[in-house]
Amino acid sequence: MNKQTILTGITTSGTPHLGNYVGAIKPAIAASKDPAVSSYFFLADYHALIKSVDPQKVMQSTLEIAATWLALGLDTSKAVFYRQSDIPEIPELTWFLSCSTAKGLMNRSHAYKAAVQDNQTSGEDLDHAINMGLFNYPILMSADILMFNANKVPVGKDQLQHLEMARDIAARFNHSYGKNFTLPEAVIDEDSKLIPGQDGRKMSKSYNNTIPLWLPEKKLRKAIMKIKTNSLEPGEPKDPQDSTLLTIYSAFADAEQKVEMIQAYQDGIAWGAAKQIVFELINTELTEAREHYEALIANPAEIEAELVRGAEKAREYATPFMRRLRHAVGIRALA
Ligand code: TRP
Repeated sequence: MNKQTILTGITTSGTPHLGNYVGAIKPAIAASKDPAVSSYFFLADYHALIKSVDPQKVMQSTLEIAATWLALGLDTSKAVFYRQSDIPEIPELTWFLSCSTAKGLMNRSHAYKAAVQDNQTSGEDLDHAINMGLFNYPILMSADILMFNANKVPVGKDQLQHLEMARDIAARFNHSYGKNFTLPEAVIDEDSKLIPGQDGRKMSKSYNNTIPLWLPEKKLRKAIMKIKTNSLEPGEPKDPQDSTLLTIYSAFADAEQKVEMIQAYQDGIAWGAAKQIVFELINTELTEAREHYEALIANPAEIEAELVRGAEKAREYATPFMRRLRHAVGIRALA
């Protein structure tokens, strides 16, 4: 039986935060230990260009995200870990797919439509500040996935539409040129932990409520102390149903720790004391990896070498597959 291929990409447009860690990175690294799967994890730096015109930021984010995965124990002798821009077959495939993708399909993209909607609301020209990268984003993402014939693609709920588009795009290409692509499936881990940010909304760069993953200990403590609670005094029972702090805690705690915390809430634990417990648990989980992370960041050459090796492995698949696709569409040697 063929191994299942699991693939996911991380846009290099920010600093990894606790939400990325519990929601995506930790489960992906755990899943990659299964010998029955091949894992492809990559840094989506082409995607980063859509939103950023800050070269330093793109590079710094690439460095930090790569160091994060390595520090957290990704085994690069098993998983293929690479940078999207090191695979020239990906932009080539993006073009092939562009030529068999209906523009109407892209018009329906939520991300694009939201940008148009914003312009409408603010009375701007409808195309204001919308680049072709945003419009073509789902095609590039489809190329990422189809390039390796991924079966399963773990993504956040906000990416579901992109996976549906990847399937449509693959089916259309297959229909024209024969069965070249596997239709990928999104994997949305329902109980994967989506954690709120300090203000209780989803932890996200765009809300400015994130807790960076690699804060030094003191700053991590400070950030946890800033998680929004209410004005209940020590001794007054706290509601475990409606607590950002408890939701964050639960993403790290085992069942027993969670039960104990709920009890503590009912017993009226002071918010400061509860936060201290949350800090200690998270800090303990991250301490060793943080040291590893610091060491890697101080040695970018080592990270670069990992990525170059990863790209070589990825291209062992991509290069011959692209050759086949070129042939399929009629781009062939004439003699
Ligand atoms: N668009 C994804 C995100 O923002 C990142 C991404 C790019 C991706 N290419 C991908 C995810 C391919 C899965 C597969 O989260």
